[in-house]
Amino acid sequence: MKVPFAQPIMTEGMVEAAANALRNERLTMGDSMFKFEEAFAKMCGVKHAVSVNSGTAAIQLSLLAAGVKANDTVLTSSMSFVATTNAFVAFGGVPAFADVLDSEYTIDPTKIKITPDTRAIVPVHLYGHPSHMDEIIEIAEEAGILVLEDACQAHGALYRGKRAGALGDIGCFSFYPTKNMHVGGDGGMVTTDDGDVAELVKKLRHCGRKGQYEHDVIGYTARLNSANAAIGIEQLKMLEGWNEKRRAIAAKYHARLKDLDGLGLPPQPTSDISPVYHLYTVKTARRDQLRAHLDEAGVQTGVHYEIPIHLQPIYREMFGYKDGQLPVTERLCKEVLTLPIFPDLTDDQMSYVCEKITEFYG
Ligand SMILES: Cc1ncc(COP(=O)(O)O)c(C=O)c1O
Repeated sequence: MKVPFAQPIMTEGMVEAAANALRNERLTMGDSMFKFEEAFAKMCGVKHAVSVNSGTAAIQLSLLAAGVKANDTVLTSSMSFVATTNAFVAFGGVPAFADVLDSEYTIDPTKIKITPDTRAIVPVHLYGHPSHMDEIIEIAEEAGILVLEDACQAHGALYRGKRAGALGDIGCFSFYPTKNMHVGGDGGMVTTDDGDVAELVKKLRHCGRKGQYEHDVIGYTARLNSANAAIGIEQLKMLEGWNEKRRAIAAKYHARLKDLDGLGLPPQPTSDISPVYHLYTVKTARRDQLRAHLDEAGVQTGVHYEIPIHLQPIYREMFGYKDGQLPVTERLCKEVLTLPIFPDLTDDQMSYVCEKITEFYG
């Protein structure tokens, strides 16, 4: 049996919606883009959603729109995809990292250190599990700084009755093909209740245009194409059902794997937190051996992430980071292994994966 690790969904209806947009709409800034934004804002429960062409652009443009500048420090988690920090290092922002919680892989609020240069905290809802937002927001409020959620892996996740993307001042999403929902290519979204930030992101994604021929800020070309937005509208309709399926798969994995000695499992949902299991990531000191065993059995796995951001060659070079500065993050990056999870994963496939893991542990 072959079990892929992710399987992006593209139905005939989605292809048809894209074709329809290509035939009948402006190819950029078409009706579908505005409809997608409206629907996404409603799903998150925020006043504004502004689409862009990637999750990276969402973080970059919304930090700029909120007034973060070159030489400002942005504190985040090193246990993330490198785009979390590339987004602001690209305009001269300086990364600072807090170590993560061993149990949840998200920022440990007790490790957050604010300096006079810190302008924003960017909690990453890694693998679809919301960060400890109440504690983070309290720290940020005390310091008078911004909270931007990197919700690129957490479409639809719930934290104390609110959706990811509606918890901090700004939320940022990616629609990269393997995410819980996608747009048939690259795409992203900024969510916020702040009308000024939303207006400035709209301007920044559209070449800094004030009017058709007048530009009053240095902008970018970061619009979401109409055909991609049309696919996004169809995907969004399915999101809740897909997330339910992911939760059901995660629950089954948990039931089948919980008694294996030496295998750590991801956090379970609680009455307060409903994660969306973008990834189902286990941890084990024998990660590479388990990975090889599964690979031989035809089970594709992933490592999220092999190298923490601060130890990426370019971050070592630019900022002088060294091994040992974030012990929990660094250990987890050696231990984590992502198992196959996607809405159409069958019971047979999941059972097969669990059998092969059980076999590994003898
Ligand atoms: C946590 C996280 N942040 C940022 C990004 C960047 O999103 P994109 O690839 O759409 O630029 C991603 C996804 O790739 C991500 O997983």
